[in-house]
Amino acid sequence: MALEFCLATASSFVAPLLADYLVKPIERRIRYLFRAKLPNLDLVTSKNHVDSKSSDAAFNKIMEALKDDKVQKIGVWGMGGVGKTTLVKKVGGEAKGFDRVIMVTVSETLDIEKMQNKIADDIDLNFEKKTGEVKAAELWSRLSNGKFLVILDDLWNEWDDDEDLRKIGIPLVENGKGCKIILTTRNYSVCQHMECEEIVQVKILEDREAWTLFEMNAGLKNADSSVIGEAKKIIKECKGLPLAIVTQARALKGKGPNTWKDAREKLEGSELMEIRSIQKKKDKNAYMSLKISYEHLEDKMAQTCFLLCALYPEDHSINVEDLVRYAWGLNLYNKANSIEKMRNEVLSVIDQLKDCCLLEDGDDGRYVPKL
Ligand SMILES: Nc1ncnc2c1ncn2[C@@H]1O[C@H](COP(=O)(O)OP(=O)(O)OP(=O)(O)O)[C@@H](O)[C@H]1O
Ligand SMILES: [Mg+2]
Repeated sequence: MALEFCLATASSFVAPLLADYLVKPIERRIRYLFRAKLPNLDLVTSKNHVDSKSSDAAFNKIMEALKDDKVQKIGVWGMGGVGKTTLVKKVGGEAKGFDRVIMVTVSETLDIEKMQNKIADDIDLNFEKKTGEVKAAELWSRLSNGKFLVILDDLWNEWDDDEDLRKIGIPLVENGKGCKIILTTRNYSVCQHMECEEIVQVKILEDREAWTLFEMNAGLKNADSSVIGEAKKIIKECKGLPLAIVTQARALKGKGPNTWKDAREKLEGSELMEIRSIQKKKDKNAYMSLKISYEHLEDKMAQTCFLLCALYPEDHSINVEDLVRYAWGLNLYNKANSIEKMRNEVLSVIDQLKDCCLLEDGDDGRYVPKL
């Protein structure tokens, strides 16, 4: 009886204590665990990341623009495989002052519903209704109530500017609420069309940086001198393009000197697609990257001009006047009834090719093809 009394009395004051000191904190922790999201895995930077002068400068510029209240949209552009996605992931991983960083890959065809689902997933939003417009309204409402960084990776088509953002349900940041946008694209004109207040170009790697990236991916620490010699020549052929460097290095890692020699000879002969180890791995990204940029050129004349440029020897500066003459001879623009008109057309095509990084400035008004 006495014992029973003791226990009853004890339980009457121990139970609340247990609840306060033990159960509630555990319950809070469990609730927190279910609610809190792990860091966005999209934004994890590879351990093989190499810092480069160009991407460091771009990184700093973007970080500054993120702090600037006047900037709503930041455009990051550069040729295929130069490291835009890698860079914006790093930015997303290090950006401060946002409730959440959302990363969406847009790609060639705009799929609004897919984007809405990805954004909702990143912010733990369960849509109440499944129709596109209602989803947009739900996203808009949630995103307007906080501060978010939205990374739209790989834009091709010029969107209907802010109207498309509205259709998806992305409110631009105003008075500290809403979304700051970083978009990446291969084409400068996409940044212009989207009216990005800050436009940042990512450029190719310098020689030393290219070597570090190659060495890291090819595992050259104990390689013999003939392999090192071939590696140096192969890197030269990669022209500082991270995608080409990583693709080549991984394909050749651990292979014997003959395979290295063979790969180098084929690269020097511009036979990228014939390198067996690349074919085997179906790792044709460097080639595909160029092909997609080419296919996205707006008109046939731009494609033909690019092909004409590609006929020149590697690294050769092309005289604009020569291109004008070829265009005239081949009647590439049938509305041009004078050389003057054709010249204007060729100059506009050159701007197009430069904007999507297929050509770059050479000396004295000449242009060099990029690859
Ligand atoms: N700084 C870097 N350090 C290490 N690897 C890099 C770096 N930059 C790019 N790479 C590698 O190069 C390849 C291409 O990079 P990334 O996908 O970022 O290019 P991109 O500019 O986004 O290309 P695309 O226009 O095709 O989208 C990837 O394999 C990536 O890992
Ligand atoms: Mg990319």
